[in-house]
Amino acid sequence: MRVGVLISGRGSNLASLIEATKVADFPAEIVTVISNKADAGGIAIARNAGIPAEVISHRDYPSREAFDAELDATLRRAGVDLVCNAGFMRILSDGFVDAWRDRQLNIHPSLLPAFKGLHVHERVLEAGCRITGCTVHFVRPAMDEGPIIAQAAVPVIPGDTVDRLADRVLAAEHRLYPMALRLVAEGRTRIVDERVLIDGEDAGAQAPLFVPAGH
Ligand code: GRF
Repeated sequence: MRVGVLISGRGSNLASLIEATKVADFPAEIVTVISNKADAGGIAIARNAGIPAEVISHRDYPSREAFDAELDATLRRAGVDLVCNAGFMRILSDGFVDAWRDRQLNIHPSLLPAFKGLHVHERVLEAGCRITGCTVHFVRPAMDEGPIIAQAAVPVIPGDTVDRLADRVLAAEHRLYPMALRLVAEGRTRIVDERVLIDGEDAGAQAPLFVPAGH
């Protein structure tokens, strides 16, 4: 499966996907990386790994739809089968999302449907949650919504700061996204009534990924 990754920043999730795809039996390869920001750290990560990366700045387009059309055309030119959003901070138009329906994944640093949107870790701490986590899901037009493929649970530890919690969740993201991509690329996910069923599931495949307390 040919994967295109969309980024806007640091690119640590991109790096974890690149690492995973280096494994010989991994069923997907990253063929292009697109950033809407010229200063995204992920661009160098891609290029250092020998993956073509380009910047398509939303500022160069008169409308969201025009930007999305260029994104779509670029992904198609690269022969992309599946799009992975990895810290991509633009809202996509319904037309783009529909064109890639069931062929676009996103990672979000909370246990969806809780804590959609921005400033997740601040809000988790404010709410006094004992457990948080991250989610990989198929993309739907509403932000941070769509059938859930995999989740990892991460403890909130007394005395956590936003940064400490973000780091702990990020470490879980780096394990979760490659796992979810593998399931999709192996053709093991089916969406039924907007819920994901995993074919050939054994106890491990369907189970959430737990990160033990203290990590
Ligand atoms: C991650 O926390 C991801 O879940 C969120 O944005 C952050 C991106 O980090 N959507 P990185 O660019 O992958 O390092």
